[in-house]
Amino acid sequence: MPRAVQFTRFGGPEVLSVVDVARPEPIEGQLLVHVVVASLNPAEVGIREGAFAQIWPADFPMGQGHDFSGVVAALGPGVTGFEVGDPVIGFAPRAAMADFTVIDASTAAKMPEGIDFASAATIPASGATGWAGVAAVDPGEGETVFVSSASGGAGVFTVQLARLRGARVLGGTSSANAHRLEGLGIEPVAYGPGLSARLRDLAPSGIDAVIDTFGGGYVDLAIELGVAPARINTIADYAAVSRYGVQSQGNGNAMSPEIWTALQDLVVSGQLIVPVEAEYPLEDIRRAYIDVATRHGFGKRVVRLRPDPR
Ligand SMILES: NC(=O)c1ccc[n+]([C@@H]2O[C@H](COP(=O)([O-])OP(=O)(O)OC[C@H]3O[C@@H](n4cnc5c(N)ncnc54)[C@H](OP(=O)(O)O)[C@@H]3O)[C@@H](O)[C@H]2O)c1
Repeated sequence: MPRAVQFTRFGGPEVLSVVDVARPEPIEGQLLVHVVVASLNPAEVGIREGAFAQIWPADFPMGQGHDFSGVVAALGPGVTGFEVGDPVIGFAPRAAMADFTVIDASTAAKMPEGIDFASAATIPASGATGWAGVAAVDPGEGETVFVSSASGGAGVFTVQLARLRGARVLGGTSSANAHRLEGLGIEPVAYGPGLSARLRDLAPSGIDAVIDTFGGGYVDLAIELGVAPARINTIADYAAVSRYGVQSQGNGNAMSPEIWTALQDLVVSGQLIVPVEAEYPLEDIRRAYIDVATRHGFGKRVVRLRPDPR
């Protein structure tokens, strides 16, 4: 039987189970995808705990996971442009942690040769989030950009995409990840007390744009540093959006196969690195989300459902 991660009440990681489910059937316009890797995202912790129950009312049993890579297993009626066996990436809300998932074919992007399934699985959420945040503040050659959390899943994409624009990128991080960021061409800055002074020292002429990928006061800091609200983007501090009129462009603003393809092409050409910190088997789903909830690490954590088929 195909497996899927499900929970039947909101709560901690203990509510998660791997259960046998029926294989979904693709309807008109859909692809059935045999999932290879599903990406882990912190928002999924909040969904499981019930923090978003007003947006997505409890509809138990609920699944977990959003972005994934896999192989087309069947085509629904009317689908063109895909064949069984095509490697694809996609976004299946609360349904990616499963052996099989269905998505609209119009939302899927094919995987090019030269990208592995773990890296590809992280593109539709974290990759797109980085793309949207950088597009929002539009950094140019020679400008200085500060990314509040540079080492996280969204951060590692954000800093590299800003760097590719020719900007100098300062990335907030713990000391544990500083050297890894340097390896990506990013200047690490320790987060925590004294950050404002460190940023002023590093950029005495000022910071041109700030991309907040963590929340908890970084937009306030950007305003304090004199950054124009139009050149501040946050994916985590929604109160600051109404307070200051800053931007909040996230993965939903880059939810397109064309952008995902562009991101994958950057990976294939070696211009974009996807650090995958850990891969978990589906059976370790509770431990995987416990690790995600630590809010520490470098890059992405993913769940592997089966070996790369190519
Ligand atoms: N709106 C959207 O479209 C969207 C999309 C994706 C994510 N998000 C949200 O954005 C946030 C980040 O997501 P993510 O996937 O990047 O999370 P993540 O991978 O869990 O981020 C973990 C990172 O946060 C860093 N960190 C811990 N404490 C920090 C602090 N005080 N200051 C700065 N960085 C700190 C850690 O660095 P060290 O290990 O070096 O300590 C670690 O690398 C989450 O709230 C998520 O829900 C929103």
